[in-house]
Amino acid sequence: MRDVAVIGVGLTKFGELWDKSFRQLISEAGAKAILDSGIEGKDIDAMYVGSMSSGRFVGQEHIGALVADTSGFSFMHIPATRVEGACASGGLAFREGYFSIASGMNDIVVVGGIEKMNDVGGSSATETLATAADQEWEAFFGVTFPGLYAMIALRHMHEYGTTKEQLAQVAVKNHKNGALNPYAQYQKEITIEQAMNSTMVAYPLGLMDCSPVTDGAASVVLCAAEKARQYCQKPIKIIGSGQGSDTLALHSRRDICTLDATVHAANMAYKQAKINPKDIDLAEVHDCFTIAEICAIEDLGFVKKGEGGKAVENKITTLDGTMPVNTSGGLKSKGHPVGATGVAQIVEIVTQLRGEAGRRQVKDARIGLTHNVGGSGATCVVHLLEAV
Ligand code: COA
Repeated sequence: MRDVAVIGVGLTKFGELWDKSFRQLISEAGAKAILDSGIEGKDIDAMYVGSMSSGRFVGQEHIGALVADTSGFSFMHIPATRVEGACASGGLAFREGYFSIASGMNDIVVVGGIEKMNDVGGSSATETLATAADQEWEAFFGVTFPGLYAMIALRHMHEYGTTKEQLAQVAVKNHKNGALNPYAQYQKEITIEQAMNSTMVAYPLGLMDCSPVTDGAASVVLCAAEKARQYCQKPIKIIGSGQGSDTLALHSRRDICTLDATVHAANMAYKQAKINPKDIDLAEVHDCFTIAEICAIEDLGFVKKGEGGKAVENKITTLDGTMPVNTSGGLKSKGHPVGATGVAQIVEIVTQLRGEAGRRQVKDARIGLTHNVGGSGATCVVHLLEAV
């Protein structure tokens, strides 16, 4: 296997983007990443794009070809492939791009992620998101994603004494970080009272415990590490890549408070990088709901099982804490265009490791982790990146 580095990143603004089409969003993110990397179109060997449900959200399948076409590369006949793994589609696309260079098959690959979710109404978006759950055993009976994560939250509260206030503290922290991110959907701080008293969605999760419905796209350029410095002054090396799977339905799990797919993916990535959780300087984790961030920091090994709520309360995960989590604002505040999220997490970590995160910069950041989950934890992808 060859070493691979990220040499360019690009992001669109996240939010309700009524004035931009699916095509415009993916072209904008891709063009920014290519410009940032210093490569030219002729250098690209392949493209991978993560998208969860473009067919239902915008009526458009066949996304790989569309992205090559709309980027102006169809005349070069570049291999262009769509990757799907529910909300982990972006992370999986990144992993496929990484493999294709690590194997020696390609030298330069562009990876994108996109979702345009607001073109359908709120209930259609909820129904579409529920296709990532088990149709026969969950969605058919009316369960939604807020409902599934509410069950995880209640069980976590029962088992470990996690409180609604600790959930709210995750939202307050992520909105504080998001307020410093010009790309975030919600660039506003919220108070603990606002978070605690927000409209109930699925008990105990209120509006402020949920990630929103978002339009947006992200893109990165990957390059064989030995060639990276030809294009870029600050290549960021991929030092670990892990992936795990689990039962589609929540009820079949060994323990609904632990995402075993996360544990598996993280161990795989740690082993490859020859590091342990203590070596990590910051992480972007999949906080689709506030309880998901608490489970993630436990399952990734940052704190012991059951101690996630306390860790948040003790401010370990704030920007100036010992383990900053979701410096971008996370899915909660930056937004969650499902297919784009995994790639956008890479963009944030690369920006931090280059020292270019401005007011939300983590001091002396050297190693960063991304954690991207599909469904209620049936798919998980973890990546480790290092400033070289
Ligand atoms: N966090 C903060 N504010 C939010 C928000 C969120 N998650 N979702 C909506 N809002 C705000 C809107 O900006 C709007 O504010 P305004 O009145 O000042 O303009 C207001 O709340 C109402 O917005 P609306 O779009 O009508 O909300 P909604 O009731 O249709 O949707 C949720 C709210 C929570 C149901 C929706 O965001 C949701 O389904 N989230 C979960 C998405 C999900 O499951 N993703 C996959 C995870 S695996």
